[in-house]
Amino acid sequence: MSSGPAQCPMRESNIGGGGTRNRDWWPNDLRTNILRQNTSVTNPFGKDFDYAAAFKSLDYDGLKKDLHNLMTDSQEWWPADFGHYGGLFIRMAWHSAGTYRVSDGRGGGGGGQQRFAPLNSWPDNVSLDKARRLLWPIKQKYGNKISWSDLILLTGNVALESMGVKTFGFAGGRADTWEADESVYWGGETTWLGNDVRYAQGHAGPTGEPGQGVVDGDQHKTDAKDIHTRDLEEPLAAAHMGLIYVNPEGPDGIPDPVASGRDIRTTFGRMAMNDEETVALIAGGHAFGKTHGAASADNVGKEPADAPLEQQGFGWHNKHASGKGPDTITSGLEVIWTSTPTKWSNKYLEYLFKYEWELTKSPAGANQWVAKTNDEIIPDAYDSNKKHKPRMLTSDLALRFDPAYEKVSRRFLENPEELHDAFSRAWFKLLHRDMGPRSRWIGPEIPSEVLIWEDPVPARSGPSIDDRDVSDLKQKILATNLKPEELITTSWAAASSFRGSDKRGGANGARIRLEPQKKWKVNNPQQLTQVLGALEKIQSDFNGSGSGKKVSLADLIVLAGTAAVEKAAGIPVGFTPGRTDATQEQTDAQSFEHLEPIVDSFRNYGKGTSRVRSEQFLIDKAQLLNLSTPEMVALVGGLRVLNANWDGSSHGVFTQRPGSLTNDFFVNLLDMNTAWKATGPDQELYEGTDRKTGQKKWTATRHDLVLGSHAELRAVAEVYGQSDNEEKFKKDFAAAWTKVMNLDRFDLTAAQDPA
Ligand code: HEM
Repeated sequence: MSSGPAQCPMRESNIGGGGTRNRDWWPNDLRTNILRQNTSVTNPFGKDFDYAAAFKSLDYDGLKKDLHNLMTDSQEWWPADFGHYGGLFIRMAWHSAGTYRVSDGRGGGGGGQQRFAPLNSWPDNVSLDKARRLLWPIKQKYGNKISWSDLILLTGNVALESMGVKTFGFAGGRADTWEADESVYWGGETTWLGNDVRYAQGHAGPTGEPGQGVVDGDQHKTDAKDIHTRDLEEPLAAAHMGLIYVNPEGPDGIPDPVASGRDIRTTFGRMAMNDEETVALIAGGHAFGKTHGAASADNVGKEPADAPLEQQGFGWHNKHASGKGPDTITSGLEVIWTSTPTKWSNKYLEYLFKYEWELTKSPAGANQWVAKTNDEIIPDAYDSNKKHKPRMLTSDLALRFDPAYEKVSRRFLENPEELHDAFSRAWFKLLHRDMGPRSRWIGPEIPSEVLIWEDPVPARSGPSIDDRDVSDLKQKILATNLKPEELITTSWAAASSFRGSDKRGGANGARIRLEPQKKWKVNNPQQLTQVLGALEKIQSDFNGSGSGKKVSLADLIVLAGTAAVEKAAGIPVGFTPGRTDATQEQTDAQSFEHLEPIVDSFRNYGKGTSRVRSEQFLIDKAQLLNLSTPEMVALVGGLRVLNANWDGSSHGVFTQRPGSLTNDFFVNLLDMNTAWKATGPDQELYEGTDRKTGQKKWTATRHDLVLGSHAELRAVAEVYGQSDNEEKFKKDFAAAWTKVMNLDRFDLTAAQDPA
């Protein structure tokens, strides 16, 4: 045996995160890591950096001017097609924002996630590593005043403007994140461009990786090949693992424009775009630039996440000829849509309808279409002596051969100004959809027109209620014949509709009294009507009292639960007035349906599916509520002893004094005298009996018992179950409660999203 330093296993494999990990040993273990993302530890600015303030001091005009100049400042290391980077930068911005999905609000351009794996290495993001690197000198120059997230999207906007689009506006305010967002379920496939899991039967739902489900993902694999009938798994918005939307060659590479239309409708619909917005985006986007498929993909090296060190973050090294410019390989398709690829026009639609199309192959062997014509009207990106015939992708032909898209496309063809307007609006929505209300938008280019997808709430007017009013109102609320738990569940229902992903929902606006929230089963509509009726009476008495002050129903809804918690806890619980009430007209009921919880572990509502266990829903919801593990544990335990189950059931109400905020939930959960067993084969409900007498003591759900079974959650439960920590528990619960009530209070700095 030879000896020497290279032989020492201790030195080589046991450092820097080497070796097997819990995830390798126990792939089904509940993962709580998504509750500790984006802490001040990973953020080089720490927790005190105020990005909004930094952005306000930005030389915005100077930045835009530099970006305009960048468009035509072709670099030798990555030359600009047609001498203009516009197409590349539009695609960069589109792929950054286009990961958004409305069902859980995750993905999207906020946070600059395109810088991190997996997105920086997705097969659909080939060459965008170059686009971002072209931006580095500008990012370096303007520094902290512009986040990567804002810069990537603003660059797409400036690209459009530099090529003749009148954009709808731009708002900054997206702070960067510093690590990959692990909360997003991108699908269960383990191969790039695979799609066997997402088109299988059933729905995964949040964090529904196959390895996480009760039932193994493989059991759900069915024949996903019927491209005319298959259903895409929720909440996904892409037809393949690693694509932003659909396969450009057609579903699963089959060049069928009608079936492609079906995939486009599903995926763009999941991004909250209707048919008109979808046609506008594709027809408008493909007015510019070109696709890249100079030669076979065999020439292309590893993606950035797996590329050699010396490439310094670049991936997809291309060994075909020069590997850049005319030799670029990105998608493997080779299409230039219009004769003016660096200038806005309606020519994409003109050609789409003017020509008949013939299936052909790109030099890389991919399916694409060429016009049946002798017209060689399309310029070459690098050789001014060369001309080409018009070409299209299968997904482009969908805009003509899908009957509903065809109608919209023809209208835009005949009314180019309508396309321009629809494109600018849809593009603005695409870039800003996950930013939350306009109170978070900053910069000089915010459009004055208020859009329904902003979920607008009216501005505050008149004098605000003061501490004495708050205390009087609390007394009035507690003097009604409503039960404390009815007040608590109502506040919770309103406030916990918030999701940190796209900052929608929350108590502000009092939308819980409007369609569709007032009808959600989880909100117990009958009880809700009674509570709201009583609160409305208090509101009208107060507002009619002649003091000139007005209280909103939204404030009263939050105050109601807060007053009840305060009484149950015996300690003060924070409350800050200032909410206003939205109208039904200001509320896109259909879009709000995406906020309806299928499961809310905090209210013991709902249960797991065949692929997602109940407790995964708990983690998922806690993450959407920006909660840490201790906050989540405190809230579940506290809500149980406050008797706040959605249907009044006693599952998890481990106390003889329901209604008092005590640490009884934890004490009894951790009591070794209780033995637990499932009452049914689905393992959703459990019975706790006295070990000695066999007498039934408690019933519980998985939402309850996971706090005792999962090691990390149990560790926190033990803290709250200790004899010296009841006061701590009360305080922690009150703080977490107030945090949830204020999640949508972007006017209060403490409520700002950590990201
Ligand atoms: C390029 C597909 C929607 C803007 C491309 C490429 C493909 C593609 C395959 C070529 C990438 C390359 O090889 O360089 C699709 C599909 C879409 C879609 C399947 C949806 C069905 C959009 C939208 C926009 C857009 C909504 C913008 C609003 C662009 C631009 C380029 C491009 C500007 C040119 C990039 C360049 O010049 O480097 N698209 N796209 N696309 N796409 Fe799309």
